[in-house]
Amino acid sequence: MATATALAHPNIAFIKYWGNRDQHLRLPANGSISMNLAGLTTTTEVSFSDELPGDMVELNGRLLAGPELQRVSDFLDCVRRMAGVFKPAQVRSENNFPTGAGIASSAAAFAALSLAASTALGLDLGELELSRLARRGSGSASRSIPTGFVEWHAGDDDQSSYAVSIAPPEHWDLVDLIAVVEAGHKSVGSTAGHALADTSPLQPARVADAPRRLEICRSAIHARDFDRLAAIIELDSNLMHAVMMTSNPPLMYWEPATLRIIKEVPAWRKSGLPACFTLDAGPNVHVLCPSSAADEVRRRLSELPGVQQILQAAPGGPARLVTREG
Ligand code: DP6
Repeated sequence: MATATALAHPNIAFIKYWGNRDQHLRLPANGSISMNLAGLTTTTEVSFSDELPGDMVELNGRLLAGPELQRVSDFLDCVRRMAGVFKPAQVRSENNFPTGAGIASSAAAFAALSLAASTALGLDLGELELSRLARRGSGSASRSIPTGFVEWHAGDDDQSSYAVSIAPPEHWDLVDLIAVVEAGHKSVGSTAGHALADTSPLQPARVADAPRRLEICRSAIHARDFDRLAAIIELDSNLMHAVMMTSNPPLMYWEPATLRIIKEVPAWRKSGLPACFTLDAGPNVHVLCPSSAADEVRRRLSELPGVQQILQAAPGGPARLVTREG
């Protein structure tokens, strides 16, 4: 039996991926930039064997069925076709962070699965090929393959759409404080959300302006310019949520506690505390700050109404192999 285990970190997007030019291949409408989240990990073990009756996938001890299983099986088919091996797989995946807490768990999941499954099938893929493969499972997973601060080049076909590291984790001592205001599963997941993006009259403007935002974000990271980063991250998050709110049907992810935080954080910054916010497809708020400000930002967040829990992560490393057998 060919087995491999890999781990990957989730990532938080500074410039967001929202909407696909090709939904099936997950070719995004625009490029995106993110930071991997150290300390938060998905560890995935994959074994391929003819003895198995079919693909079996366990996530945090829960056996997947129906569309959830189908999504993983379809992805495994991509890997099996690449390897020319058509055996069923047993997949065991564990997150050390709460699923559905506003942390894109599919990113870490498909990044770890890409590395474990391709290794178990004897493929020795480079980082670029792995990123491209992970993209097929979940777009944001392409960004959890390389290390640190990462840019996903939108590209215009399967070959040209992949992510690369733009700075290692130690480049910038930033911290992501994740204010959890609702720990349950989100009502409309990202995959369904991407399909609605084009129904918003604001999406073309968001996409057309993306190269400018990417350039500002990339240069702010390179220069470690927090104020410049803060302004572009908040603009980008607001643009994505404007698209979501004006889609048909509209997607409204904010809760009252969300709004409270996203009004407070820029006010803190104005009064000298470096912090900025960004949201994914959910109500929880990621608050980024230099590590020197983390204790104070954390203290202030914990005093806000509706904040149930605060998770903390520094810039994280790449997806990596844990063991290999068989
Ligand atoms: C709002 O990568 O989760 O987090 O490709 O359908 O799995 P699928 O979508 P996913 O979308 C992420 C959306 C986002 C923004 C981002 O991470 O860039």
